[in-house]
Order: sequence, then structure tokens, then C-alpha cells
Amino acid sequence: MTYSALSHLECPRCGARHDADLVQGTCPCGSPLLARYDPGQVAVSPRDIAGRPPDLWRYHELLPVRTPGRVVSLGEGMTPLIALPRLGRALGVPNLLMKDEGLIPTGTFKARGAAVGVSRAGELGVSAVAMPTNGNAGAAWSVYAARAGLRSLVVMPAAAPAITRAECAAAGAELYLVDGLIGDAGKLVAAAVARRRGYQDTSTLREPYRIEGKKTMGLEIAEQLGWRLPGVIVYPTGGGVGIIGIYKALRELLELGWVSGDLPRLVAVQAAGCAPIVRAFEAGATASEPWPDAKTVAFGIMVPNALGDFLILEALYATGGTAVSVTDDALLADQRAVARLEGSFICPEGAACVTAVRQLRKSGWLAETDEVVVLNTGTGLIYPDTVPAAAPVLPPSGSIPPDPRRADDARLGEWPRSPSSRARPPRSTGPG
Ligand SMILES: Cc1ncc(COP(=O)(O)O)c(C=O)c1O
Ligand SMILES: [Zn+2]
Repeated sequence: MTYSALSHLECPRCGARHDADLVQGTCPCGSPLLARYDPGQVAVSPRDIAGRPPDLWRYHELLPVRTPGRVVSLGEGMTPLIALPRLGRALGVPNLLMKDEGLIPTGTFKARGAAVGVSRAGELGVSAVAMPTNGNAGAAWSVYAARAGLRSLVVMPAAAPAITRAECAAAGAELYLVDGLIGDAGKLVAAAVARRRGYQDTSTLREPYRIEGKKTMGLEIAEQLGWRLPGVIVYPTGGGVGIIGIYKALRELLELGWVSGDLPRLVAVQAAGCAPIVRAFEAGATASEPWPDAKTVAFGIMVPNALGDFLILEALYATGGTAVSVTDDALLADQRAVARLEGSFICPEGAACVTAVRQLRKSGWLAETDEVVVLNTGTGLIYPDTVPAAAPVLPPSGSIPPDPRRADDARLGEWPRSPSSRARPPRSTGPG
């Protein structure tokens, strides 16, 4: 039985075919390369997959690692797809679901790309991976490299979340900070890799396999819905690997006949302070212009100039999707709203998707009947400073004042605490 049905790499821009069993970067034309599989070699059915372990390697025929023994895993994948009924009702989209990537090793979906990218790099004989990052990817690639016995070189903006720096350091990465943005980090990495033997530049879309890990989010959404596709998928877009990967996954499932019907409308969400894809989409363009003076608290989506811009835009146009920008104030308010209404402390990037749903419902682009999946790409724990948490300090001899939250509860539209309460649950007035 063939473990991986990988056949070759293909350039989505010029159509050139490349050998998948050599270490490859981008196509000579400058485009990222995409892995292609031979459907005839996929000797598994959705029913067989249901019996496999609950991690992303359950889709190994559609992943690039050829030898089971080369798989480097920390148990990543099969994150929950949970209903958000109270938030959904408040937003006027009752069929709202969240794919929660906060529950994955390293706390972000970056673990998926790292698991597959590192496994394949090791299989192809690479001895060190090198990458610029906004923090989360660096943390994920550092720990997977450590588990694989590979070295890692990571460069991130000095302003990236501190915890990701700690994770890289703990895992033994060679770590540098740059007083600039991710593009500046990328230039430093490219120059270093050119001088070092055995190092591969694993920057976003500069190697072909990170996206294969991320596409498993799309495979899982389809499987978790019973091999059915939702109406809309909303994704916080930086370099765009996730949204391109989900689009690729869903097309592969259609080709295999595991799902049918229309693809979900894909929505790329960006921060108002860095929205090159939104600007390009609104202009009907097929490529984006670099965004000057990028700034947002949603650090992971602060990518002023994405290498895969044309692929992101193609996914939006081809599915009848759209692109939306949201302000930091609005996404931070929604980060708290999700925690209060649904009990999930999500990352600012995930919160941006919730704000996008709010806006798209208001504009009428989303209907009340739409089934909408938002991607929460990571846990809020990585960004502790995004939520003010002032609390009174009491002396040991002090006392706790009478219940101060009654008024607050009413404002939030919370359910009565006591099941014996005779009061009707108040209708939600929407998160504040
Ligand atoms: C938490 C989080 N969400 C979203 C993104 C954007 O990722 P993509 O490259 O898939 O657009 C990142 C990238 O750093 C991230 O860390
Ligand atoms: Zn090409």
C-alpha cells in the first residue's frame, strides 16, 4: 500500500513540473510550488479514515511524507470544530462554528505546517531549517525540528509575542530578533542560508510542504461535518498559507469524490492596519501591492507583502468569497466577547474572523441561514497583553464585596446562574 500518493510538484504560475523527491524551493519563475498527488494511488476511503488515530497523519495518502518512520509528530491535528450558539445568535448567524486551533501543540495551527514541513525536510536529507517568522511559526518549527533532531535558525521581529521567543530558545533554536518586520527577517534568513550548507529556507511558501500540513484544516472540517462542506469559511490571512491550503484540500476532496457540491465561499480577513489582500480584492486585482507602515495587535496577520498573494486572490474569486478588514479595537472587543459568551479565550487573529462575520452579516453578505466556520488559529494565552485584567488587591484580612456582577450579567445577556430561577433567559443583546 502506498503511504503517500505524492507524484510531483507543480508551478501554479507557469505550469512547470518539478521533482518532488529533491529539496525544492520556489519555481525559477518565482512562484511557490504546490504538491500534486495521484488520485489512483489513494487506496483509502473516508470510512477507513474514521478508524485511524486522531491526528493529521490520518490523511497520510494526501501528505508528502513517503515513509511512515519519517513522520515527526507531537499529536497535532483533529482539533475541535465547536458550535458557537450564543455568539452566533448574537451575530445573527446561528449556524456559527469555530475550528479551534488553540488546542494543538505550541498553541497555534503553525504546528500543522511544522510537523509536515519538518518531517519531509528530514526525509529529503535537510539538516537544518531556517525561517523568518512573526513568532508562532518559529516556535512551532523549533520544537518539531528539535524532535526530528534537526537544527533550526529563526529570525523574528523584536515586537513578536515574547512567549514564542521563549519556546524557540527552550527548543534550542538559533534565534535572532530584528528591529523590523517579517520581510526584513526574511532577507536576513535568505542571506544566511546562501552561506550555510545543509540549511533549507523554509519561509512561508518558499518550500512546498508547510502548506500540505495546513491544508489538513480543510480536510478535518469536511470530515468533522460528515464529509460535507460548510457554506462559508472565514480565515485570518497573513502569508495566506492556511487559506490557500484549505482551498487546495477541498479541491483535492472534490477530485477524489469524497465531497460534492459547491466549494465554501472563502473569506480572507486582515487587520485594517495591514490589508494588502483586501485592497487588491476590492480593486479586482490578481496581485497585491506591498502595504506601507503595517501595524496591528493581530501580529500573525501582519504580512505586508505575501509571496502567495495571487493564490489567495484566486481562492477568493474562484469560490465567490470576499476579503474584509477589521480594526484592532473591534477584534479586541470580539476576543472578549467570545470568551464571555462561549468560554473560549481565542487569539486576536481568530477574533478578527468573528469581527468579520459581524460585519458581513450587517452588510448582508452573510445570510442568517449560512453555515459559517471561523478559524481560530491559536490560543489567546500567547497574547496575554491583549486583555486588560486589572483586579483589586485585597489584604489577607480584607473581605470580598457583595456580588458586583449583577449589572454586568444583564448587560452581557447571560443566562441565570441558578437552574431553579424563574426568570426567563434574557435575549442576548450582543457582546459589548
Ligand atoms: C495565530 C496566527 N493566525 C494567522 C496567521 C496567518 O497565517 P497564514 O500564513 O496562513 O495566512 C498567523 C501567522 O503567523 C498566526 O500566527
Ligand atoms: Zn513557474
